Amino acid sequence: MNEPATPCLVIDAAVVRRNLKRYADYVAQHGLGLRPHTKTHKSVKLARMQLDAGAVGLTVAKAGEAQVMAEAGDDLLMAYPAVDRPRCDALAELAKKVTVRVAIDSQAAAEALADAATRAGSTIGILVDIDVGGGRTGVQTPKDALALAQFVDQQAGLRLDGIMCYPGQVRGEPAAQTPALKQVDATLAETIDLWRQHGLAALIVSGGSTPTAMQSHLVTNLTEIRPGTYVYNDMKIVTGGYCTLDDCAARFACTVVSDAVPDQVVIDAGAKTLTYDSFGSGETLSHGYLVEYPEARVTKLSEEHGQVDMTKCDPRPRVGERVTVIPAHICPCVNLQDQVWWKENGELEALRIDARGKLS
Ligand SMILES: Cc1ncc(COP(=O)(O)O)c(C=O)c1O
Repeated sequence: MNEPATPCLVIDAAVVRRNLKRYADYVAQHGLGLRPHTKTHKSVKLARMQLDAGAVGLTVAKAGEAQVMAEAGDDLLMAYPAVDRPRCDALAELAKKVTVRVAIDSQAAAEALADAATRAGSTIGILVDIDVGGGRTGVQTPKDALALAQFVDQQAGLRLDGIMCYPGQVRGEPAAQTPALKQVDATLAETIDLWRQHGLAALIVSGGSTPTAMQSHLVTNLTEIRPGTYVYNDMKIVTGGYCTLDDCAARFACTVVSDAVPDQVVIDAGAKTLTYDSFGSGETLSHGYLVEYPEARVTKLSEEHGQVDMTKCDPRPRVGERVTVIPAHICPCVNLQDQVWWKENGELEALRIDARGKLS
């Protein structure tokens, strides 16, 4: 196998397939749909693999990602508000070819999307985004969700499809998540009931992140979940207790470029490779996990240098040695790569990051 130049991201196909199967089995067991968030891999090939493994559709965050992912699937949810004209127009145009749904939390977004759909002669499905405790986006109460649903229902060019929530704040170990998820369940149940009393139905109730995915059955009204990170996993997912190191499919190959400073080596992966994300805290904080040197910690990053504290390591790597690094948070790392390496049966194949840099 030829060794590509470092730093480079290598994806283990067998681990990806195992991760896809684990989640496909879980949703099948609980009668849920899986609508994976493609922001993690940004790749048409991976999206197709997810659909082949039984996904009901795909999730994106950006209109540009939706345009790319329409090559893989014909049922797309943008789990992110669209309010500006270029984004709404792009989605309305795409909705002529594939099913496009958008999660929104304001009348302004509903008006902007309705205008765009009317101009394009298409229909956009709407999920009302309700805040279930994360405090990022989402209408604040079931009553507000009803008011927005009624408004959407009156707009030409829009179709009210249901509800979206993102319990991203629920991050404890799986068993400790139960009270928070029961609260999410109660909020959704109240909202659906209110809609029903006013003659509105939520055919889709979309929830779920990777940390909560395997507890989704506790949120009884969900029809589908949207994990993204699960396809590759990363150190945040490992340290949260949601997977093991063996489940981390995406790993950087890096080269040790300096050991001049005592108790430290420098790898050729800085913030432009690993990003500034970290896992652990205080004495255990690190920007990456060195597979061959588990006691090492990536403590300091500049753009192209990763300073690795080797105090606790014996033996230590020599200059020129290759090391394997699992990043803290894989999704923004992938977005920094034009291509990654797909490793299957010992062979490496270039895999383009099709939706790389699609930020609008
Ligand atoms: C709205 C929304 N849905 C789903 C996801 C996927 O969650 P995870 O990254 O935990 O897989 C995210 C992650 O950012 C998100 O913002």
